[in-house]
Amino acid sequence: MKIAPSVLNAPIENIKDWIKGLDDAYMLHLDIMDGHFVPNLSFGIEIAKTYKRLSDVPLDVHLMTTHPLQWIHQFKVIKPQFITLHVEAKDVEKSIETIKKEDIGVGLAVKPNTPIDVILPYLNQVDLVLIMTVEPGFGGQSFMIDMLKKVEQLQSYKEKYHFIIQVDGGINDDTIKLCEVAGIDVAVVGSHLFKQENMKLWLQNHQ
Ligand code: DX5
Ligand code: ZN
Repeated sequence: MKIAPSVLNAPIENIKDWIKGLDDAYMLHLDIMDGHFVPNLSFGIEIAKTYKRLSDVPLDVHLMTTHPLQWIHQFKVIKPQFITLHVEAKDVEKSIETIKKEDIGVGLAVKPNTPIDVILPYLNQVDLVLIMTVEPGFGGQSFMIDMLKKVEQLQSYKEKYHFIIQVDGGINDDTIKLCEVAGIDVAVVGSHLFKQENMKLWLQNHQ
């Protein structure tokens, strides 16, 4: 399984000290919040550009925003590997189209209370499906084990369509094992990773 570290709760004041420890990560996961789709704010394009400057690891933009289109136009300039918007957001079709036109991978995310069926009509258009394993908005929450049922449902569509499955929220040394068993492709890991004394070693041991 691949790991995408989430820098949401990372200690930004000494970014240069830890960013190299993430060099072996599959992607750097950037959580973008608008204070409306979720009751929190994170950071914007200027900080995202700083991550791009300081690291060669591909970027993975997770938009937790009501109007993804305006954020896609901002974030496309950093050429992330993926831009993921929520299926519960506005203008889903148009957003998918816009990301594709930029030759950026398209991700579609689903909140815990949204059934996976809502994603199915888009499976032929997306490169990644993100199953939220916590309520989006904050790091450090507990993994919602029930979400693995959604993963199981999705796995059966992989023969027909080409997409990878990502989970986000509450991953630690125990829940990561469940993700491996469930055949998840990419796990986003935030607070647990940043608690490690040696993040490089933890990444080596888990991907
Ligand atoms: C939650 C974010 C996650 C978060 C994960 O809204 O999408 O990416 O940073 O953090 P942990 O691993 O602490 O749950
Ligand atoms: Zn995220």
